[in-house]
Amino acid sequence: MQLRSIGGRSVSAIGLGGMPMSIEGRPDRERSIATIHAALDAGVTLIDTADAYHQFADEVGHNEELIAEALRSYGGDTSGVLVATKGGHLRPGDGSWTKDGRPEYLKEAAKASAKRLGVDAIGLYQFHRPDPNVPYGDSVGAIRDLLDEGVIELAGISNANPDQIREANDILGGRLVSVQNQFSPRFRSSLPELELCAELGIAFLPWSPLGGISLARSGELGAEYSAFQEIADAHGVSPFRVTLAWELALAPVVVPIPGASRPESITDSAQASELMLTADEVARLSAA
Ligand SMILES: NC(=O)c1ccc[n+]([C@@H]2O[C@H](COP(=O)([O-])OP(=O)(O)OC[C@H]3O[C@@H](n4cnc5c(N)ncnc54)[C@H](OP(=O)(O)O)[C@@H]3O)[C@@H](O)[C@H]2O)c1
Repeated sequence: MQLRSIGGRSVSAIGLGGMPMSIEGRPDRERSIATIHAALDAGVTLIDTADAYHQFADEVGHNEELIAEALRSYGGDTSGVLVATKGGHLRPGDGSWTKDGRPEYLKEAAKASAKRLGVDAIGLYQFHRPDPNVPYGDSVGAIRDLLDEGVIELAGISNANPDQIREANDILGGRLVSVQNQFSPRFRSSLPELELCAELGIAFLPWSPLGGISLARSGELGAEYSAFQEIADAHGVSPFRVTLAWELALAPVVVPIPGASRPESITDSAQASELMLTADEVARLSAA
C-alpha cells in the first residue's frame, strides 16, 4: 500500500469511507464489521466517519460506534490507524441533513464523538459543512479551540471553497491539515480546491470519489465514463480502481476515501494504490 501524509501522519493512500455502512441501505452489523476488517487487512490506515452517519434520530454516531467496535475486535495492530470524524451536520431522522455550525454545539459534538470512538483525543476532526447561519470564522474558531485544548489532534474542513480554505488555515494558525470535498469523474468542480491544497501542502480527501453510492452500486460508472472502462479493460482491473488511481495521480496530497459496505468493494479499491497509470492515461481521463 502506497502511503501519503495528513498533517505529518502517514496514512494509506486509499482510505475507507464509512457512510454506506450507517445510512439508508446499510448492511447488518456483521457485514459492516467484516468490511472494516477487510480494509485493515488490505493495509488501509485511514477511516473516514462522521457523527451524522446514521439513519434514525436516536442513533447519532452509529458509524463512529461501528468503527470503534471493529478496531477493538480486529486481531492485528490498529495503533497506526487514523480515524477522521466530523461534526456540524445532523440527521433528524426524516432522511434530511441539517447543519449546526455554532461553536458551542461543535465543541460538545466533538467531545461526544471522542467518547463514542473511545479515545482521549480525536485523530482528525473535520468541520463537516459551512452553516449559513453562523459566520464561518466562528465555526472554525471552535475547531481551533478544540485543537488548543487537546480534544482533537488534527483539524480539517469539508465542503469548503478556496476562500474558506485560506480563511480556515489563517484562523488555525497554519494548522489546517485536510480538506474533504466532493470529487469524482462525475463531479469535478472541486478541482480548484484540489489544486489549492496541492499548492499549500494540505491533504485533499475526495468524497464520493466513485460518483456516490447510487452510481457506484449501479455498476454504471464504466458505462457513463467510457474512458475509465477502456483503461480498466486495458489493465485488467475494475473502473473503480482506475478512478481512484486517476485521483491519486492528480496530486500527491490526494487521499480518496471510497465508501464500502461489502468487504469485496474495499479490497478492490485499496489496490488502486498499486495501479500506476501513464501520463497519457491520466491526461485522457482528465479530459474525459
Ligand atoms: N464530507 C461530506 O460532506 C461527505 C459527503 C458524502 C460522503 N462523504 C464520505 O466519503 C465517503 C465516500 O463517499 P460515498 O460512500 O458517498 O460514495 P463513493 O465512495 O463514491 O461510492 C461508495 C459505493 O461504492 C461502492 N464501491 C466502492 N468501491 C468499489 C469497488 N472497488 N467495486 C465495486 N463497488 C465499489 C460501494 O458499494 P458497496 O456498498 O456495495 O460496498 C459503496 O457503496 C463516504 O463513505 C463518506 O465517508 C463525505
